Amino acid sequence: MFPIHRPRRLRSNPQLRRMVRETVLTTSDLIYPIFAIPGKGIAKEVKSMPGVYQLSVDKIVEGAKEVYDLGIPGIILFGIPEDKDLEATGAWHDYGIIQQAATAVKQTVPELLIIADTCLCEYTVHGHCGYLEVGDFTGRVLNDPTLKLLQKTAVSQAKAGADIIAPSGMMDGFVQVIRSALDEAGYENTPILSYAAKYASAYYSPFRDAAESVPQVGDRQTYQMDPGNTREALKEIQLDIAEGADMLMVKPALAYMDVIWRVKEATNLPVAAYNVSGEYSMIKAAALNGWIDEEQVVMETLTDFKRAGADLILTYHAKDAARWLSHHDAAVSSGISL
Ligand code: PBG
Ligand code: ZN
Repeated sequence: MFPIHRPRRLRSNPQLRRMVRETVLTTSDLIYPIFAIPGKGIAKEVKSMPGVYQLSVDKIVEGAKEVYDLGIPGIILFGIPEDKDLEATGAWHDYGIIQQAATAVKQTVPELLIIADTCLCEYTVHGHCGYLEVGDFTGRVLNDPTLKLLQKTAVSQAKAGADIIAPSGMMDGFVQVIRSALDEAGYENTPILSYAAKYASAYYSPFRDAAESVPQVGDRQTYQMDPGNTREALKEIQLDIAEGADMLMVKPALAYMDVIWRVKEATNLPVAAYNVSGEYSMIKAAALNGWIDEEQVVMETLTDFKRAGADLILTYHAKDAARWLSHHDAAVSSGISL
């Protein structure tokens, strides 16, 4: 008795494996996150994210050139302002840190896409993603007053040169109001990438070090989603589509592959996956200990996001991945089997 079917036939050599590979990661799939801080000449490594830095605007300009030269299509900007207040002034001020960074990058590397993270948590004294009633120490974010601040933030970011607006605060109706504010201000061609299904996740904690945005009271569970839910994610997605979103994001990515997949099936819009800070730090920590091979684990993980349905991957590994991809391509074209 011999097996009739022998799937191993197509695994028997590297060229055959390349030929039948279903999912191939490319540099075009990647977006690199950058943290902007005030000052000059500053590159301060984030403790919990080895290899990731808070950068002053001049350093961001250098970094943006590097990202562009690596073939990565875009960056997403997060800002750490000089001062925080109740109105999140630093988020929507014309000379806010994201606005400064966006303008400077546009002047030097105009082809690089700039995605602006549109949220208030880095700019509020209490660290929440929205507006709290004065004197509220429970952390209950008020939805509709927050929408007004998000409108101002999005318009000022577009004005400063942001190509894509990415609201991340999980406020109800934020896509709709941001769309109308952008349209009224003449930015009807600026797309919105909505953080549509964003979970209340413990995987964000290194980011909160990096962005200095730890909530001072309470947590984000009244606006971010419960990790146990997927139908709710689909509801959020449908609402954002109806409100005019151009692209949808699922966040985090690694523990939420099923959500990426179901969102992909539910929409024809491009789907982005955010490979968040905690996911990065886990790989980095294990790699620095010599417990895993960083390149192999990163490339496998990013490919798997794509296989799950992600069209775009926001990842702190983007620059490394782009380098590894180009070495890989060079090796393949010079005949080395991979
Ligand atoms: C908040 C925001 C968060 C991230 C990006 N924007 C999470 C949060 O603090 O709730 C997380 C990104 C990451 O962990 O890499 N608007
Ligand atoms: Zn936020």
